[in-house]
Amino acid sequence: MPHDVNLVATIAVGFVLASIFGYLADRLRLPALVGYLVAGIFIGPFTPGFVADADMAGQLAEIGIVLLMFGVGLHFSASDLLAVRGVVVAGALGQILLATLLGFGLCWLWGWNAGHGIVFGLCISVASTVVLLKALEERNLLQSTQGRVAVGWLIVEDLAMVLALVLLPVFAESMGGHAEAGSETSSAPITLTILLTLTKVAGFALIAALIGPRIVPWILIKVARTGSRELFTLSVLALALGIAFGSAAAFGVSFALGAFFAGVIMGESQLSHRAAANSLPLQDAFSVLFFVSIGMLFEPAILVEKPLEVLAVVAVIALGKPIGAFLLILALRYPVRLALGIAAGIAQIGEFSFILAGLGAAYGLVTKEGQSLILAAALLAITINPLAFATAEALERWISGRFPRWSANFGRRRERVLAVELDRIQAQAKKRDHEQARKITEFIETFPLFKAINVDDQEELLLLFVPKAASPGDRIVRIREKGDAMYFVVSGTVEVDVNGAAVQLGAGSFFGEMALLTGDPRTADVTAVDYCNFLVLSRRDFRLFMSRHPAVRAAVQAMAEERLAMNRAAVNSSEYHDERLDQGAAATDR
Ligand code: CMP
Repeated sequence: MPHDVNLVATIAVGFVLASIFGYLADRLRLPALVGYLVAGIFIGPFTPGFVADADMAGQLAEIGIVLLMFGVGLHFSASDLLAVRGVVVAGALGQILLATLLGFGLCWLWGWNAGHGIVFGLCISVASTVVLLKALEERNLLQSTQGRVAVGWLIVEDLAMVLALVLLPVFAESMGGHAEAGSETSSAPITLTILLTLTKVAGFALIAALIGPRIVPWILIKVARTGSRELFTLSVLALALGIAFGSAAAFGVSFALGAFFAGVIMGESQLSHRAAANSLPLQDAFSVLFFVSIGMLFEPAILVEKPLEVLAVVAVIALGKPIGAFLLILALRYPVRLALGIAAGIAQIGEFSFILAGLGAAYGLVTKEGQSLILAAALLAITINPLAFATAEALERWISGRFPRWSANFGRRRERVLAVELDRIQAQAKKRDHEQARKITEFIETFPLFKAINVDDQEELLLLFVPKAASPGDRIVRIREKGDAMYFVVSGTVEVDVNGAAVQLGAGSFFGEMALLTGDPRTADVTAVDYCNFLVLSRRDFRLFMSRHPAVRAAVQAMAEERLAMNRAAVNSSEYHDERLDQGAAATDR
């Protein structure tokens, strides 16, 4: 294959096989993810047939990670995390510690050195957010207390892993690894390096928190106002990848963390749901490539050569981790049902394990064999994850049958407090959404002119408007001046002075359209009669919007013509009247 089509070939074969195997996995009632990993194995170097470019696939995977973490950030809710902190912080950190110890123990049994053991343990301690989100979604649990605790749990794990990613290069040498090929080794003392690294991360977080919420929504609104969907999607992606890349370059934090923050910042914007909807297809596509590229690294031979090792790692992931989490949650005095649900959700490993293993390999802290073990175990654990959920349900039934009183009462109080708090947050979020919906409904009720355009366009129109208020007697539009805007009367009354005759316009009407349509000067004076509120559409936005909505333009045009005709008729009749008066005066003179 000629070298210059490598990228296309990798993407094309990756997509084709991933969709075939994804479909088959779904038919077998397995997560589609398993299919993507299998597709990767097929185009990997360890199986016969087409071999995709591993470097290229790795880079595509990197984009997948950035978009995935961006998605996680977009849906991240700080208030949710705060509400569930009582269980997730101690729980997730405790579980990471436990799982790392278990992994470390395994490595110790195999005679690996301590550094390798720690990194390996860390790799298998963290569950995949993507797998969990998919599992919760399938079971309709995303918005439940269990789902939100699980998501909070994984966010704590992800953040802990980000810290591990940042610190690994610093500790690599003291853990028995080496500096990354091509990078210079720092001679600074380790505490100084750690301090420097943490300061960089904190600096980045601070800048992201202070400047991000001002700049990002501003850019999004500016772009949304152009009305170009394509430009909007592009800007969302540019911000996600730009912040990820920029932060990695400037602060040395990982792509993943940068993307996560980009998502969090964007999530605060009123356009976040559109950002999410627009970036989702690309996010899906590249996350598929991420899993395909992981599959490519998998050496099936490991299953034959080291079956017991693979099984041992799977046992730690699918049994050790969930049992540990279950006991931890009970120790924190939360109910059995919640403990079982979380335990099932985290009985797998995924993206962060692969990222950390990759980084570990670059620093000589994860061997090829270690990487293969992690991949094989991940593949198996993700495949049997639905079984973990089924087991959790069966166990719950068994416990509540066997110990009905205990299981009904244990941890109930805490769960209730948690549920109330989560409900409150959800109600608040709903209220915000309702508020926006109410604003749009009210707007449409006042201006039925815009009824026919779709909700997205209505929302966009609201972004185009600039509110303006006027007091009685204020002159809003002056006759013979150049027209620069059109006005929609939200409340109050204005008076249009047409050749000495006054026409009053109230809420729901508009004025100033004639000069914009014709390019001629204003045809009348318009003055506020009482306190008024307007929505003002600038000439530029008027043109843009009307060119996209010909029906609205036609309606505005019709109104302008009607007004013009009315004014002409008034002029004619007043001229006729004046003439009659003049004639009358002449007759009296005679
Ligand atoms: P424009 O000419 O841009 O500025 C003055 C505005 O007054 C004009 O657009 C119309 O919107 C409005 N106007 C002019 N004539 C009438 C009329 N007969 N009835 C209501 N509004 C009018």
